[in-house]
Amino acid sequence: MDIKKIVKSAVFSQKAYPVEERSCRIKLDANENPYPLPRALRRIISERLEAVSLNRYPAPGSPGLRKDFAQYYGVDEEMILIGNGSDELIHILLTAVDPRLSGSVMFPTPTFAMYGIIALNSGHNIIEVPLNGRLELDADAMLDIISDKDPPLIFLSYPNNPTGRCFDRDDIEKILEASSGLVVVDEAYFNFSGKTFMRDLDRWDNLVILRTLSKVGLAALRLGILIGHPLLIHHLNKVRLPYNVNIFSQVVGSLFVEHSGDFLELTDRIVSSRKWLFDELMAIEGINPYPSDANFILFSCFMEKDDVYARLIDRGVLVKNFASPDILKNCMRVTVGTEAENREFIESLKIVMQGE
Ligand SMILES: Cc1ncc(COP(=O)(O)O)c(C=O)c1O
Repeated sequence: MDIKKIVKSAVFSQKAYPVEERSCRIKLDANENPYPLPRALRRIISERLEAVSLNRYPAPGSPGLRKDFAQYYGVDEEMILIGNGSDELIHILLTAVDPRLSGSVMFPTPTFAMYGIIALNSGHNIIEVPLNGRLELDADAMLDIISDKDPPLIFLSYPNNPTGRCFDRDDIEKILEASSGLVVVDEAYFNFSGKTFMRDLDRWDNLVILRTLSKVGLAALRLGILIGHPLLIHHLNKVRLPYNVNIFSQVVGSLFVEHSGDFLELTDRIVSSRKWLFDELMAIEGINPYPSDANFILFSCFMEKDDVYARLIDRGVLVKNFASPDILKNCMRVTVGTEAENREFIESLKIVMQGE
């Protein structure tokens, strides 16, 4: 078998999304919520799951969840699409959109890696626009590309992963105004930023919002929510696989809406810890943290970064390292953990930076 003749060249030359397989005592690499679910909620989940018919397919299109999230967000049910994580929703968007030759998908870099990976695998030509030195959008460059090529799909992570800040709202509004393609504002970290375009859906029919339950303590469920124009949802539903969301996730997703206050208490705790972590990082010589609106902090390191990364692992602490040659070349990203995990990370980093 000549696999090169079988697999698309864009797939052949790709690297798979780099997920660190190493297990460490303190896992601060994947922007997860560090807190387990409160016991009372776990009990309710077990009770609800007892009533589930595992011999039947789950409801196609997750109608219960669509209703719950429509109410939760204050939008029409026809504006909601539920996915197996927002990764699947990104995949659905990229499958539905026409891969025009001149460049069909635009996003800033660095940003969430899956936009580029799924786009290339789906046959799109991508246009990457580097962030400026302040880690803001290069809005002029993006507006020039829109007036030249008008890409049918633009992704903006808000706040941006991995840089951490929300882009300037005026820049995003200009992009929404100028583009006739879809502008996806990915609000995966909304619960840590409090900033949203949800109230702007009436202003732009090409605005699409992504949310996820992965960052609020339910990463294992794989539940993402896309909010957009009903006509777009109608067509995306033809791309969605019939039973894309399993029954467990449908049941627990509804429970999130019912008990959102309990979940969001934990995200508030993360926001307080983020400030502590930022100040501590600031105080370490040779470390420069970037301000964050998310549940992680990007920091640059003036010592040999791969060495620092490896030595943190030796001490049982896993953060995210980047191999890219761009702005991130001296950077690592740490997820805000529990208070105890944050303390241990800081202590370990101090020791490593002192060359011990
Ligand atoms: C910006 C952004 N969007 C989407 C996702 C993926 O979310 P999900 O777990 O819902 O697939 C991530 C995950 O880290 C992310 O950083």
